[in-house]
Amino acid sequence: MPLSSLAHIPVSCSGGAYQVSVGPGALELLPEAVAKSGARRVAVITDSNVGPLHLSRVLSFLPPDSPHFIFPAGEASKHLGTIGEMLDFLAREQLTRSDLVVALGGGVTGDMAGFTAAIYLRGISVLQLPTTLLAAIDSSVGGKTGVDLPQGKNLAGAFWQPRAVLCDTDLLSTLPRRILFDGVAEAVKYGVIRDAALFRLLATPGGFQENLRQVIARCVEIKAEIVAGDEFDRGERALLNFGHTLGHAVERESDFAISHGQAVAIGMVAVTRLAEERGWCEAGLHAQIAQALELYELPVELPYPWERLAEAMLHDKKRRGNELTLVVPECLGRCVLKTLPVAELAGERLLP
Ligand code: GLY
Repeated sequence: MPLSSLAHIPVSCSGGAYQVSVGPGALELLPEAVAKSGARRVAVITDSNVGPLHLSRVLSFLPPDSPHFIFPAGEASKHLGTIGEMLDFLAREQLTRSDLVVALGGGVTGDMAGFTAAIYLRGISVLQLPTTLLAAIDSSVGGKTGVDLPQGKNLAGAFWQPRAVLCDTDLLSTLPRRILFDGVAEAVKYGVIRDAALFRLLATPGGFQENLRQVIARCVEIKAEIVAGDEFDRGERALLNFGHTLGHAVERESDFAISHGQAVAIGMVAVTRLAEERGWCEAGLHAQIAQALELYELPVELPYPWERLAEAMLHDKKRRGNELTLVVPECLGRCVLKTLPVAELAGERLLP
């Protein structure tokens, strides 16, 4: 496949613009991206699932003897202890401020390698090489980095934009179906918040599988537009959290046995049901969203009593005092933010 078939999406941010390149073979742009960064040394951070699959190919595009660090795959590694190990690694390898970290992997890797790059020597460049759909369309773009604390997900972190994102769709071909479909939940999210045509494509059997590059590129375009308008998450960037407040509560209650994408799927349907009950959106929208998600074997029913989830939502980092802001759809392609008192939410009944 010629590299001309790649889509290049610019993301504007306070530190200047960067590009997200999407398509088969995007990895081949790595030497050019490294040269552009001016780095003399490049360190790769990856996990124990992705390393055996893709590390040697990535290293083949980098200067000889580029060091790498592999941590145990999974959300359980996403804590400050692992960040300490990553910092030790960069210091041991004597990376300097003008060098580069490459984050090779899914959301956990991108978030942690990005955060490590943000604080090592008070900040060195990071390039994101996402290997999951979820990382490709969401976490690798927009500069949110961080780790979990015992008290909750992503409670410590920094905004640290990457130098570039190379999303090689060939790398997604090794993904187990469940992990690929996890990312589709986020793609459906973009459809509901900004693009009814994207939603309809995803709601058509085969629509996603036959248009992978286009779907990723469109999701990244939407994210880039939103991030350009609100890089530091003080306003409309919150729209990207559609389904997430409840989703995070579901993830937490399941002790992460329910994956992020599955939890977001459940959250989007439940919040849309609430919006319908309150008359904020057209009737039947939650069923439409549920039907689309079920095409990708994603769950759509609340797995726990509402009271338990409402309690868990009290710990959401986006809570302000006694209020939580939820993203609610008005129609396909348009969502708004609604701030509700927590006590009122706790009194809702979202179970069928
Ligand atoms: N993942 C949500 C955001 O980047 O704001």
